[in-house]
Amino acid sequence: MKFNTKAIHGGQKPDKAYGSVMQPIYQTTTYAQTTPGEHKGFGYSRTHNPTRTALERAFASLENGEYGVAFGSGMAAIDAVLKLLKSGDEVIATNDLYGGTYRLFTNIYEDFDVKFHFVGMENIGEIESYINENTKLLWIETPTNPMMRIIDIEAVAKVSKKHSLLLAVDNTFATPYLQRPLELGADIVMHSATKYLGGHSDVVLGGLIVRDKGLADKLYFIQNASGAIPGPQDCFLMLRGLKTLHVRMQRHGENAKAVAEYLVKHPEIEKVYWPGFINHPNHEIAKKQMKDFGGMLSFTTKNNDYDAAIKMVEKLKIFTLAESLGGVESLAGHPASMTHASIPKEERERTGVVDSLIRLSVGIEDVDDIIGDLDQALA
Ligand SMILES: Cc1ncc(COP(=O)(O)O)c(C=O)c1O
Repeated sequence: MKFNTKAIHGGQKPDKAYGSVMQPIYQTTTYAQTTPGEHKGFGYSRTHNPTRTALERAFASLENGEYGVAFGSGMAAIDAVLKLLKSGDEVIATNDLYGGTYRLFTNIYEDFDVKFHFVGMENIGEIESYINENTKLLWIETPTNPMMRIIDIEAVAKVSKKHSLLLAVDNTFATPYLQRPLELGADIVMHSATKYLGGHSDVVLGGLIVRDKGLADKLYFIQNASGAIPGPQDCFLMLRGLKTLHVRMQRHGENAKAVAEYLVKHPEIEKVYWPGFINHPNHEIAKKQMKDFGGMLSFTTKNNDYDAAIKMVEKLKIFTLAESLGGVESLAGHPASMTHASIPKEERERTGVVDSLIRLSVGIEDVDDIIGDLDQALA
């Protein structure tokens, strides 16, 4: 099946009971047994639930993996990956990272003696200089959040294979429509499915996708043992959202391109970060590993003024000022005071998250209305 067909049918079959085309919401905690231990593959809903299993198959299909593992949020999915580690292990992670991931790593796992190195991974040689015998995991996001840097997944995968490390890629921004890290050599793909995969800003959910059976078994064990599972209604909503992923992503990409081209010419704008520009430092890698450039971009205004940036986002009418991204509606965010507020100012500015930086999740409304809204807010 090609991707657009997989988005609708991947891993899905009509339900066995009545042939229902959409996977039913199995709102049950437990399942009847004929004799102790004898059941139809489902014993207790923390361990397995048919609606969740259907979603996990869909996740695996979209990322061209073998096994999907669903969680109650993207953070719960990341947490499960970190539970593969032990005290004393070291992780090398992208320095331009989602703030919540940074918080989980530094505020929780550092207390369990896991050590993290935050590194600018556009330079592959830089990664190798941090590898030692304790290194177990490489963690990357690409495009990065919110600076839209691009990391060469295939090149990082070569480093991880050479040193027998696990490579995990947070594929939230790109989605499998644009890039499939497992095909490029990654071991684990992670999603905040809350974003583009769900696509309608109505469900918080996370996912991991892998190809290796041993790794999948460990993650299923953690999923059940720690219990951070999504409920069947949320799995149903996610399954519904996935069916239009390809159509939404195509329009997100078209609209974001138009917005980037508008902003770059605007006299009040200092910089626009969008990997589709030929002069974006990693444009060639983006072209190589992504089908298109996605719906996310960020920009700074001249004078880099914190208050002016806040005023600008307050004036927006079509864009909603909100955390999150990836829904059909356009959202704007001010990372310094919102998503990245938990990263110390000095550290966030080192990676480019300055006071005037504004991040846009360009929705699929009419592009003229989207640009008109930015125009009035910047006036
Ligand atoms: C890139 C990225 N990774 C992970 C997460 C965490 O996901 P969730 O909010 O579903 O827990 C987010 C949330 O914004 C994100 O943007």
